[in-house]
Amino acid sequence: MKLVFATNNPNKLKEAKSLLSNKLEILSLKDIGCEEELPETHDTLEENAFEKANYVYTNYSVNCFSEDTGLEIDALNGAPGVYSARYAGEHGNAEANMDLVLKNMKDVENRAARFRTIISLIIDGKKYQFEGIVTGEILKERVGADGFGYDPIFRPNGYETSFAEMPLEQKSSISHRGEAIRKLVSFLMSSSVNY
Ligand code: IMP
Repeated sequence: MKLVFATNNPNKLKEAKSLLSNKLEILSLKDIGCEEELPETHDTLEENAFEKANYVYTNYSVNCFSEDTGLEIDALNGAPGVYSARYAGEHGNAEANMDLVLKNMKDVENRAARFRTIISLIIDGKKYQFEGIVTGEILKERVGADGFGYDPIFRPNGYETSFAEMPLEQKSSISHRGEAIRKLVSFLMSSSVNY
């Protein structure tokens, strides 16, 4: 069983492969010769996830899934949300993004936040969607060196450590992406779709 994960983010690919490797073969964009940036032009995670998957499905004729993730902070009215990758201006600058979150959260008492992932799956032109959420809080400074993106400043509820202090397996067992991927797997395993 093979499925393309339509992402240019090597960290997302690594997390997905670690969860899916014993269940199905995940192909990367590189594996199918897709080297270009995927479009992400909308204002919701749902639309962006579908746009990326649909781009790959349409241009490469492969069954695939994509995902879009946002960090939603209560005290910032849900920001950075769908703009998480370019919160500080430059796309994918994790250090600048964390600096801006920490600055905007300085002296803010309510530190509640959540990561939300939307996976969009397209099989033979049919579209499916899965959501994963993890709640937690924004730390006052970076802690830990693993993970990626906002991991050093996010502590999931019920844990003493940030995502960046956790081994990959532990993060995946509770994370937004882990939950969405588990829903994807259980759909694939229980449905009669061919992929
Ligand atoms: P996108 O889904 O690739 O647009 O990612 C949105 C932003 O959230 C990027 O800045 C990512 O680095 C960040 N991000 C996505 N997933 C995670 C995660 O699991 N932990 C921390 N940051 C993440």
